[in-house]
Amino acid sequence: MEAGRELIDHMTASTTAQAETLNELVTSPPGQGAEILARAVRQREAAQDAAAELFALHGRDADLGVSAMRSLARAATTASLFVIPAGAVLGLLLGWVLLRQVLGPIRRLARGAPLGPEEGAAKGAGQGQSSSDEVRAVGELVHGLLRDVDQTHTLLEESRLHLMQAEKLALVGKLAAGVAHSVRNPLTSVKMRLFSLERGLDLSPTQREDFEVISEEIRHLDTIVRNFLEFSRPPRPKFQQASPSDVVDMTLNLLKHRLETYGVDVRLVRERPLPEVDVDPEQLKEALVNLILNACDAMGENGRIEITEQIGFVDPLGRVAVIQLSDSGPGIPAEIQDQVFQPFFSTKEEGTGLGLAIARRILEEHGGYIHLKPADKQGATFVLVLPLREKVWIRS
Ligand SMILES: Nc1ncnc2c1ncn2[C@@H]1O[C@H](COP(=O)(O)OP(=O)(O)O)[C@@H](O)[C@H]1O
Ligand SMILES: [Mg+2]
Repeated sequence: MEAGRELIDHMTASTTAQAETLNELVTSPPGQGAEILARAVRQREAAQDAAAELFALHGRDADLGVSAMRSLARAATTASLFVIPAGAVLGLLLGWVLLRQVLGPIRRLARGAPLGPEEGAAKGAGQGQSSSDEVRAVGELVHGLLRDVDQTHTLLEESRLHLMQAEKLALVGKLAAGVAHSVRNPLTSVKMRLFSLERGLDLSPTQREDFEVISEEIRHLDTIVRNFLEFSRPPRPKFQQASPSDVVDMTLNLLKHRLETYGVDVRLVRERPLPEVDVDPEQLKEALVNLILNACDAMGENGRIEITEQIGFVDPLGRVAVIQLSDSGPGIPAEIQDQVFQPFFSTKEEGTGLGLAIARRILEEHGGYIHLKPADKQGATFVLVLPLREKVWIRS
């Protein structure tokens, strides 16, 4: 380094001296030029020598640098020969561990299969056991989530169906109410005229039979219209204190003629009248009429209806009045039992499918319920439950 700097100084000095000598040559008197020129040539040679020496000096340095780089490259090549295979082996090892500890269980998880014994049974087996425990926990979590998703999906589907059903009912109810309203007035006038005609005419037995059929059909129409109106525009219940036993008597009285025509034998099992409850007698009567007419439809002629009244206790209503109504008909097939209370469900050619839906609504408005008793013998048994809601006297 030091030697290089000296040589550069020497070269600079020689070149500067040469420039000055050449300048002197220009201004020198004639006759001295040869000697000045010779001096300039010497100075140039000195500068050339210094330059050659400098070149030689740095050439050596460059050679040294190149050889150092070469040996470094050789070392790197040698090292890479060892490092690459070692890296490959390490990679394979890591891959194997990943496959065994994580991917295996996750694949089984994805297939929904239970986790293998090594994931669960390795209790107290150190590292492997803790990682498989974690995978198992994640698995259980995922399965739990899937179960939740399934349940939510089912619930969603159910509410969608309910909504569709409710929308359908609202629409049908509106239509039905309109039609029933228009039919009711002409029907009432036909009914009145028919009965006054009956009184004035002297009918032959065949004509009387026809008359009975016409009357029966008109009653049927009347029931349909009433049911539709009742269902689409349910009147607000007018509650009063009354014994449900009185309502049962009222209903049997109302249907007396019909029951006699069908030849139905009615048996009433009553130890003592039921206590008074909050009830709309007209509405409860409507529910009982629907049940008795259904029984008559099911039994045909000469059937038997048994009405039992009791006091009971059910959770959470407490003390309740229970009216049980059984018939001697064929009963309700198991496969349709959960549908009979649905509006518009009917197995009858001319049924509206509203009788039981209305009965259920009425009982629910009374804070009670109606259900179909599982068949233990022939026929169908409906159970009506009304809360007694006895008054509680608070002493002050
Ligand atoms: N006592 C009964 N015996 C047999 N089946 C009955 C009885 N009561 C009701 N059902 C069945 O329940 C269905 C629904 O009754 P309901 O709602 O009153 O409508 P509808 O009488 O217009 O058919 C009937 O069509 C019938 O299949
Ligand atoms: Mg009916």
